[in-house]
Amino acid sequence: MTCLSLLLQGSVTHEYNLFFWAMVALCSTVGTGIAAFLIYCAWHYRRRSADELPSQLALNIPAEVTWIALPTLLFITMFAYGVKIYFDLERPPDNSEDVYVVAKQWMWKTQHLGGQREIDTLHVPVGRAIRLNLISQDVIHSFFVPAFRIKQDVLPRRYTSIWFKATVPGTYHLFCAEYCGTEHSQMIGWIYAMDPKDYQTWLQQGAAEGSLASTGEKLFHQFGCGNCHHFSGHGRGPNLRGLYQRPVQLSSGEIVIADETYIRESILQSRAKIAQGFQPIMPIFQGQLSEEQVAALIAYIKAIGPAPGGEMPSGPGEEMGDYGGITPDLSHPASPATAQPKPGVR
Ligand code: CUA
Repeated sequence: MTCLSLLLQGSVTHEYNLFFWAMVALCSTVGTGIAAFLIYCAWHYRRRSADELPSQLALNIPAEVTWIALPTLLFITMFAYGVKIYFDLERPPDNSEDVYVVAKQWMWKTQHLGGQREIDTLHVPVGRAIRLNLISQDVIHSFFVPAFRIKQDVLPRRYTSIWFKATVPGTYHLFCAEYCGTEHSQMIGWIYAMDPKDYQTWLQQGAAEGSLASTGEKLFHQFGCGNCHHFSGHGRGPNLRGLYQRPVQLSSGEIVIADETYIRESILQSRAKIAQGFQPIMPIFQGQLSEEQVAALIAYIKAIGPAPGGEMPSGPGEEMGDYGGITPDLSHPASPATAQPKPGVR
């Protein structure tokens, strides 16, 4: 058991492998067992003379119970194990690092919270859980890294996410696993899993434009978002402080969780879902912002977090044009508490 639990630690790769081989072992054992028993019975109970009549067997309850209960138990265990792995994949660990991935025909564009951008490559530190927020700007693609046993469809208009943790430094293949047009087969790249120290060096080399959140803050000002979204809570638009992953009451009566997809839709298709108590007056930004810019705005909204000292915003004297006097620390990614989805919420 200790041996088993040791094997189960670490990245999902090991768990996947164990699960796969457990399935192969169970299915082949059961399969060959049934085949062997079939052959044995066919030979042992063969008809020995032309007029032989088989003996009539009465119902054997213990045998019936055994051959129903045993396989059921075995295969339900396998199912439960699969469910566990599925949930592990759906829920990134609390300290995972966010990376935004935009897929387009035919390339992968990745953005780190520190502002580093890459094309067809992704540098990550080993031993750290990486949570990918994936979106496509055209058709459906699929982010597939065989070595990490992760594959996730990348959809237009909706964020999907998946996480992984590289355990061994190295270079790993990234594929697009969904036919997406002429150059689908060229839509490949590399994941560079680096020693954390090398990763820090790499990070320092490539963030010319500042962090993703600070890019988002610039866009926030550039597009005049702060004119309505006051951090005082008295603006014409909802206060965005601490919005991420919070339930939002809509004017339709529905309650939604403010995840990446909701925030994105509220920027691009601002009138699709109106928060209760507000008017549908926000301009529609569809076509004006790229997916990268939307990701930066989302990173900014995540980074501003809740108001200091309270869930609800406060701050007298914050008027029009005042961005709430917020001084979010944008040099660091959002704290794990705000950057993580709540369990069970996607
Ligand atoms: Cu993108 Cu196939």
